[in-house]
Amino acid sequence: MKITLPLVILLNLIIFAQQSPLITNIEGRKTFSLNGNWQIIIDPYEMGYYNYRYEPNENGYFKNQKPKNKTELIEYDFDKSETLKVPGDWNTQKEKLLLYEGTIWYKKDFDYQLEKGKRLFVYFGAVNYKAIVYLNGQKLGEHEGGFTPFNFEITDLIKEKDNFIVVKVDNKRSREFVPTVNTDWWNYGGITRDVNLVEVPSTFIEDYFIQLSKEADNKMSGWIQLDGNDFKQKISVRIPEINLEYSFKTDENGYLRFLFNAVVELWSPNYPKLYDIIIESETDTIKEKIGFRKIEVKGPNILLNGKKIFLKGISAHEEAPLKGGRANNREDAKIILNWVKELNGNFIRLAHYPHNENIIRLADEMGIMIWSEIPVYWTILWNNEQTFLNAKNQLTEMITRDKNRTSIVLWSVSNETPVSEERLSFLKRLAEQTRNLDDTRLITAALENHYINDSTIMIDDPFGEYLDVIGLNEYLGWYDGLPEKADKINYKTNYDKPVIVSEFGADALQGLHGDSLTRWTEEYQANVYEHQINLMKRIPNLSGMSPWILADFRSPRRNLPGIQDHWNRKGLISDKGIKKKAFYILKKFYEEAF
Ligand code: GCU
Repeated sequence: MKITLPLVILLNLIIFAQQSPLITNIEGRKTFSLNGNWQIIIDPYEMGYYNYRYEPNENGYFKNQKPKNKTELIEYDFDKSETLKVPGDWNTQKEKLLLYEGTIWYKKDFDYQLEKGKRLFVYFGAVNYKAIVYLNGQKLGEHEGGFTPFNFEITDLIKEKDNFIVVKVDNKRSREFVPTVNTDWWNYGGITRDVNLVEVPSTFIEDYFIQLSKEADNKMSGWIQLDGNDFKQKISVRIPEINLEYSFKTDENGYLRFLFNAVVELWSPNYPKLYDIIIESETDTIKEKIGFRKIEVKGPNILLNGKKIFLKGISAHEEAPLKGGRANNREDAKIILNWVKELNGNFIRLAHYPHNENIIRLADEMGIMIWSEIPVYWTILWNNEQTFLNAKNQLTEMITRDKNRTSIVLWSVSNETPVSEERLSFLKRLAEQTRNLDDTRLITAALENHYINDSTIMIDDPFGEYLDVIGLNEYLGWYDGLPEKADKINYKTNYDKPVIVSEFGADALQGLHGDSLTRWTEEYQANVYEHQINLMKRIPNLSGMSPWILADFRSPRRNLPGIQDHWNRKGLISDKGIKKKAFYILKKFYEEAF
């Protein structure tokens, strides 16, 4: 039976579906960094892509042309143009680009000696928002979504000398995108994470998943997928530290599922034990550091390794502490996670999109549990299939990259989305996709709630039915009443499921002082925290919390002069790294209460 998909969906499947298999882990592989200065052309009218009839121009900037003689008309020259650093957002690199939303062309020259018989991929950690990538004037492909990795195979296009890679980056917002036009974070544009060439054998270990088996204790389960043409191979999985080695054979599609006995020490915040894992095929080897733990729910409780646990957390955006702009390296991650530890925390909600891999891997090492989320945020276009495919693709890329990361215990598929039938069916499909890709973690979402009378708020969002853990955002004392209002409110839920208060908080300009009812002062924020902490003790099924937010962050929605100036000031730490009074209130609560 021939299936004909409407052209739009077909085109979008092409855009969203990775042209090349997404390499799940490039750590430990032969890589060549393309980070550094790239020449750029700021192109708000997309002169480099369209002709004056607004049709795609086959001689666009991706050709990187030079006039061959004095008469030839070429109206751009990358090599005489300014540069931007990669990785990095463009907004904080040049004052004139702080609010820029549009297209910027990036170009980088490089030489590369590809080893005989090997394959080569160009791997992007992330590009916000839409990327079109060209090598030596040839289009490699497109990617949409600013927070997940993608790669293209360039084995047949690479030259030993004088290669030039060109990326058209466009961070313009649009209603059908994910996220959509309104967010409370800065729309940082650019090649925001590392770019690497990755060299692999002709048949390589493209993807794998290994974790404790859900069904049986002292067993590990998982799968391995090869990519190439030599699919039937002998594979071994080794954990040298415990002298464990098992051998298997992949099938005619280069795939194998495994289940084997293994007794390991379990990973937890107090003991973040990681093991060196070696997966070896006849043509390729992967080395990984993985910790083993079980995360599950039992009625209203979250269990880690079979024991009830409380997630003492904080929310955070992916902004570089003290420097501002997108965070994208281990140093940034260290500062952020050390602050979580200083708060006596064991959990961080990475809002509202997948953050860079550095912070996830460091959380593995430091024993900090993670809530990871895709930017299905506020008023997405629920009945737009293109929007759904886009969200599904970002979800799939997030899980593909991070499924072997021990620290991630929760996948969140949305934040504060308005209840409706379209929204419910959209989110149900995302929850289903999450379970299909990874049934070893918990699924959640930050849900809204509503009053059923003056003093009772109901947590009964219909989407809660499809979740393992209910996320609850509430702003009693800031958007809803004054701080003491929290003392008068009771929460109710029919869900016999764990609840995480994924957001509460208040704005305070660090250093601004006054009485505890004067907004924007540290005292007001502290007052909100005092009352919220009492409220936490009355929230049904409370299993964790991640107040909003660790540090002040840039937002185009925050325009109060002298206080906000394009910063959301709900941080417990200022953009200069100075702690506010409320920081110590939460720190004390986490120290004493658990
Ligand atoms: C919302 C939202 C955040 C936002 C915060 C705020 O709940 O999820 O993204 O920044 O409230 O208003 O400060």
